[in-house]
Amino acid sequence: MASDSSAAPDPLTVGRYTASSVLVSAADLKARVQALGKEITADYAGREPLLVGVLKGAFMFMSDLARAIDLPVEFDFMAVSSYGNSTRSSGVVRIVKDLDLDLAGRDVILVEDIIDSGLTLNYLRRNLLARNPASLEVCALLVRENHKVDESILRYEGYRIPSDFVVGYGLDVDEKFRNLPDIRIVGVASEVPAGNGAADGSVADSAA
Ligand code: IMP
Ligand code: MG
Repeated sequence: MASDSSAAPDPLTVGRYTASSVLVSAADLKARVQALGKEITADYAGREPLLVGVLKGAFMFMSDLARAIDLPVEFDFMAVSSYGNSTRSSGVVRIVKDLDLDLAGRDVILVEDIIDSGLTLNYLRRNLLARNPASLEVCALLVRENHKVDESILRYEGYRIPSDFVVGYGLDVDEKFRNLPDIRIVGVASEVPAGNGAADGSVADSAA
């Protein structure tokens, strides 16, 4: 198929957004997810954990994590959206898609893409605990260094990261970049042409 390479879309710049420096490479992600899977396999030996993924951000992580767990697991998904239209979630969470399965008596592992403030996690934990699971643990790929949740509830985590907004491996800005195989810092071009990929760092996020 003939194509004009000068017109080929750049996967790293979409509209005003540019995904630039790599924070976590695809190879590092692979190794870390394998290690998390091994840990879960050992901790849940003899049990059949139910992985609950929070859409959409956790879908890629959960897919790889599930394959790294050498136990019979089941899957379910929830979709939530956070009120508030900036990079900060308000803590008021609306369930857009609820679970299909009953959690009563199950060993549930809540799989999250990123714990930022932790408000979404706090809401989801309360909500899931009310359904009487046998146990509930959290597995988050990324955890913000200045999160505001009780450390003791973060059982499994991939990486601690600083405050930069990140995309890739399921995470988005404005629904973009979810398919990048690595995790990158994203910038948004300012109104004035900014030259060397300068960014003001203010990006909007509403859906998980
Ligand atoms: P929290 O309630 O402040 O912890 O926000 C958690 C949600 O905000 C995540 O599930 C993501 O959907 C979104 N989020 C927070 N930081 C980022 C980021 O750097 N990139 C992409 N999404 C993010
Ligand atoms: Mg999001």
